[in-house]
Amino acid sequence: MDLSLVSAVDAYIETLFKTSDPALESALRASDEEGLPEIQISPSQGKFLYLLARLMGARRILEVGTLGGYSTIWLARALPANGRLVTLEFEPKHTEVARRNIAHARLDERVEVITGAALDTLPSLQGQEPFDLIFIDADKNNYPGYLDWAIRLTRPGGLILADNVVREGAVIDPDSDDPNVFGVRAFNEKLASDPRLEAIILQQVGTKGYDGLALARVR
Ligand code: SAH
Ligand code: DHB
Ligand code: MG
Repeated sequence: MDLSLVSAVDAYIETLFKTSDPALESALRASDEEGLPEIQISPSQGKFLYLLARLMGARRILEVGTLGGYSTIWLARALPANGRLVTLEFEPKHTEVARRNIAHARLDERVEVITGAALDTLPSLQGQEPFDLIFIDADKNNYPGYLDWAIRLTRPGGLILADNVVREGAVIDPDSDDPNVFGVRAFNEKLASDPRLEAIILQQVGTKGYDGLALARVR
């Protein structure tokens, strides 16, 4: 299997579906200028998340791990006018850049960015209307904890998504001593065995390298 061919086809798909999108382009530029790491999802992954949210008719979305708000913009665009997205981010600098990018995309009325360690801020979301869709994409060692919260905060029939659950295949490396791999592996095992979920993992190879996206429907 020639991975450079797979990457080239991913670039072809990206080009094929590329449209002029000043808000997303300027979000990437601003994040880069502010020195944020370039670890946001790819445009094709953004389109995929957007389509899933649209297909679900999601009105309430929760994101864990905002960075500069690139995935936030994709997901928030899937919301109806009365929809709401809450996104959780640890780094004050990231939230500041994200808030500007989200406002520039004219989504600030629909999006709330909450600063803090997500495991500390997630409890504040209890007692609100449950979420239709939750996207987990923050620190990988805490993925198992985020999954517990996601199950608690998602409505029956809702969708839980998580980025980076394959990690260039390191997830099956028995010799790995990477805490991120431990976290993702525990997350995957819980996702597969929790009776409240119906789930699968999609491998993804493309312009962002080799990784995977987990999908789970809450029963
Ligand atoms: N979803 C973004 C990328 C997120 S990168 C996109 O695709 O555009 C992961 C983010 O999680 C980083 O901004 C990092 O600062 C944040 N993060 C790390 N630890 C965290 C924690 N404990 N709580 C909340 N966010 C955290
Ligand atoms: C990292 C985090 C991500 O969410 C991602 O998609 C890629 C890399 C990281 O922390 O290195
Ligand atoms: Mg990610």
